[in-house]
Amino acid sequence: MRRKLAAGNWKMNGTRADLAELEALCTAHDGADVDLLICPPFTLITAAAQLCDGHDMRIGGQDCHMAASGAHTGDISAEMLKDAGASAVILGHSERRADHAETSDIVRAKARAAHDAGLLAIICVGESLSKREAQNTLDIIGGQLSSSIPDSATGENTVVAYEPCWAIGTGLTPTPDQIGDVHDFIRTRLEKRFGAGIGRSVRLLYGGSVKAGNAAEIFAVSNVDGALVGGASLKADDFSPIIKALE
Ligand code: G3P
Repeated sequence: MRRKLAAGNWKMNGTRADLAELEALCTAHDGADVDLLICPPFTLITAAAQLCDGHDMRIGGQDCHMAASGAHTGDISAEMLKDAGASAVILGHSERRADHAETSDIVRAKARAAHDAGLLAIICVGESLSKREAQNTLDIIGGQLSSSIPDSATGENTVVAYEPCWAIGTGLTPTPDQIGDVHDFIRTRLEKRFGAGIGRSVRLLYGGSVKAGNAAEIFAVSNVDGALVGGASLKADDFSPIIKALE
């Protein structure tokens, strides 16, 4: 039985004042029947982790370097994230693949570094609108899965997030059938590569315009084990109903 996960990606949003939203979430959802995670910007990780200490909310990063340390100005290693209080890291988000030319090979190396540091790697995959319209969605997802997930993946250290690029921040979402087709495909691929034990234990999140109004419908889809939420994770009043829909 996979434990559900509600994860928030704050992206490049949030200053110390916004930790009040995190505090409200912590208080409201102690004892929740699902795993809870917020990934704030690097600058807030230490403060966020301190604030969540003793609560059922975990903190994660939004990227890490593939190297353990060294001359990489502006970068952060997985070990540094861990030291700051993070227990997870989002990797291969489409915004990083696009803005920083991150290939799946790079994402795989980063995920390996995250595993080595003892972090949960949330590995993102997703197709562009043109690939979906050309009916190439499963080819794209299959390729990203093979190249982005390291051999070190297990159900404990890896989560896969399906985030169609065209659904991110647009208010558009795939139909439940479209989400189910991709999630079932991901599950099958994981089982083939890692065997039934690991393949069935890796949690699969859907991400892309999840909000209070569509969360229950999305969570009812086969092989959806939770959500990776962007905009609607920034305010406790928006994220709380999504968490409740998952419970
Ligand atoms: O990682 C979460 C994400 O890309 C979805 O963003 O704002 O559409 O929920 P949003």
